[in-house]
Amino acid sequence: MKIVVTRVIPERGLDMLREAFGAEAVTVTQQDGPIPRAALLEEVRGADALLPMLTDRIDGAVLDAAGPGLRIVANNAVGFDNIDLAAARERGVAVSNTPGVLTETTADLAWTLLMAAARRVGEGERFLRAGQWTCWSPMQLLGLDIHGATLGIFGMGRIGQAVARRAAGFSMRVLYTDANRLPEDAENALGAVFTDKATLLREADFLTAHCPLTPETRHAFSDAEFAAMKKTAVFVNTSRGPVVDEAALARALRAGEIFAAGIDVFEEEPRVHPDLMDCENAVLIPHLGSASVETRSRMAALAAGNIIAVLRGGEPPNRVA
Ligand code: DGY
Repeated sequence: MKIVVTRVIPERGLDMLREAFGAEAVTVTQQDGPIPRAALLEEVRGADALLPMLTDRIDGAVLDAAGPGLRIVANNAVGFDNIDLAAARERGVAVSNTPGVLTETTADLAWTLLMAAARRVGEGERFLRAGQWTCWSPMQLLGLDIHGATLGIFGMGRIGQAVARRAAGFSMRVLYTDANRLPEDAENALGAVFTDKATLLREADFLTAHCPLTPETRHAFSDAEFAAMKKTAVFVNTSRGPVVDEAALARALRAGEIFAAGIDVFEEEPRVHPDLMDCENAVLIPHLGSASVETRSRMAALAAGNIIAVLRGGEPPNRVA
């Protein structure tokens, strides 16, 4: 048995695989940094299972390099836009993800960004550390109130709903849009009102993206969308970078078309558009949505569990293809 894990992941996942198939079956290919493409193509040879990261592009070439013994690609992420599902289906390779376990942690982070951007936490910290703070000032770094405002959620899946639940604590009005409307009882429980994208853009004080990356959602937020938002709006993205046209976001932040942004994911990670880097009113963090000790451990365990199920002849519990 050969199981290829492309990065060091929490021990819990590795231990599960080692216990199930023996330590010698598990190859961790990379200690630090993403595995280079050539090394990936080499390392996957003869693999029965692959546990890649969202930074690894798993396409037909990788699947072919692994060979006909490959039975599952268990992505260590809930998003799976890094995997060519059609190529996997054609070759009879199962694909799984890690849903559920990172929902609340990612929702926490979306709120962290929302609040940090609204209250200018990044600017304030930079100001203080630069030694520029000389005294309390009535007009210094004034931000926006969150309580009582309107929250707009673009994509009302598991994470969008977890974000909506937290809004109750801030007495917010919640609007959402999604390709699929929630059942009425779910909407009522969340206090969320379904609307169209144009209304969401027009009415949200805080707009947060929680959709998967698909051809339909690529650049769902570009010049026209930012222009349609309130000048006082705060935009948050913890979904996938290409959902947002980063150059357009930078233009909107600079022109004051929106007030601020909190961004966790970028179009070409780890590169961040230089114009966005220059925006004082953007809080920028390096794809940390699921980055809590417990959640990363659960993700590793879920990915390992999918591999164990398939290599023992069963169905992966979190199959996406
Ligand atoms: C995911 O699982 O898709 C997240 O982006 C990882 O943080």
